[in-house]
Amino acid sequence: MERKEFLKKTFALCGLSLLPAAVMESCSTASNSGPTNVNFTLDLTTSANATLNTTGNSLATNGVLVICLSASNYVAYAYACTHQGCQVSYSKAYGKILCPCHGGSFSASTGAVLGGPPQTALTKYTVTKNGNILTIKS
Ligand code: FES
Repeated sequence: MERKEFLKKTFALCGLSLLPAAVMESCSTASNSGPTNVNFTLDLTTSANATLNTTGNSLATNGVLVICLSASNYVAYAYACTHQGCQVSYSKAYGKILCPCHGGSFSASTGAVLGGPPQTALTKYTVTKNGNILTIKS
């Protein structure tokens, strides 16, 4: 094999082997940490928010998934999956937060990754309840 032909084949192989890595890298580095400077309230007496009066129900609003784990325990997370940004939802049946796109699952009590391709926990927000008003903050 001549030197020129050797170099041509070597560069062709390197190019082919680097391409999938570049594609994989661009797919796996999505940053979906959710909204920042979150600060809003939900009035549980309004029909739009009434679902949160029932344990196991959830509501997606303002980029945030609010879950009623019990009458005195509410949690809130960014609803964009940390893998590639699909909208997650709470599964009462499984007691987990699930992503419909690639099977990611997260803890409902901490937002930690439980399974699937996500590598990062969901961003958690603080929830305080004062009477019938929930306040969700970063
Ligand atoms: S976008 Fe959620 S698991 Fe891929």
